[in-house]
Amino acid sequence: MQIVAPEIEGYLASLEVHDPQLTRVAAEGESLGLPIINPAVGRLLEALVIATGTRRVLEIGTANGYSALWLARSLPADGQIFTLEIDPERAAVARRHFEEAGLAGRVSVVVGDAARMVHKVAGPFDLIFNDGDKRQYGPLLDRLVSLLRPGGVLVTDNILWDGEVVPGLVTPPRRAPEDTAAIAEYNRRLAADERLMTSFLPVRDGLAVSVRRRP
Ligand SMILES: C[S@@+](CC[C@H](N)C(=O)[O-])C[C@H]1O[C@@H](n2cnc3c(N)ncnc32)[C@H](O)[C@@H]1O
Repeated sequence: MQIVAPEIEGYLASLEVHDPQLTRVAAEGESLGLPIINPAVGRLLEALVIATGTRRVLEIGTANGYSALWLARSLPADGQIFTLEIDPERAAVARRHFEEAGLAGRVSVVVGDAARMVHKVAGPFDLIFNDGDKRQYGPLLDRLVSLLRPGGVLVTDNILWDGEVVPGLVTPPRRAPEDTAAIAEYNRRLAADERLMTSFLPVRDGLAVSVRRRP
């Protein structure tokens, strides 16, 4: 189920200023069947990087590097992204894109299971983009909050899961019920988490923007 009406998506896409490299990487992601973000989400990530003065980013789920390109290009020259990817072939493709974009110096692709790798990276991060295995969202939440600086932002993708988090909306369900349940439980936790202030947005497949409160 498409969350935002195709006509609205089309209108928003018509406002985009196209960057040829991003367009190429998005097309490649689509042809490989990768569930990457769209330009509306990329633009929002870029706006958050700039608004928060982000210098250090952690991303979970690199795929072919499309979202990391959006994040990396708006960082200052000495900014840094660590992006975690379990699939070495995808990681290699992403690295090639960062080199082609002249951004390889800002991006470290870490290959391995995010469940382990999040304990190998050192915070604090200004922004974390959480877009890996949906069943890891809940188990990783405490670690991600601890890696975030006060005032930093945790952005989580796919929180509407094609509308399947709304009970009874999509029948029969097309997604694995375990994934849907994991995301719904994660959303409940985000909403109740007093360390965070979360805004749930119906952008593309749903985004949660959670700001770590200052003490
Ligand atoms: C939704 S895609 C990421 C899309 C990317 N953020 C973008 O929008 O351009 C999720 C990625 O997470 C990776 N992934 C899945 N499970 C993982 C895990 N346990 N640890 C690290 N990466 C994982 C998948 O291989 C896949 O490439």
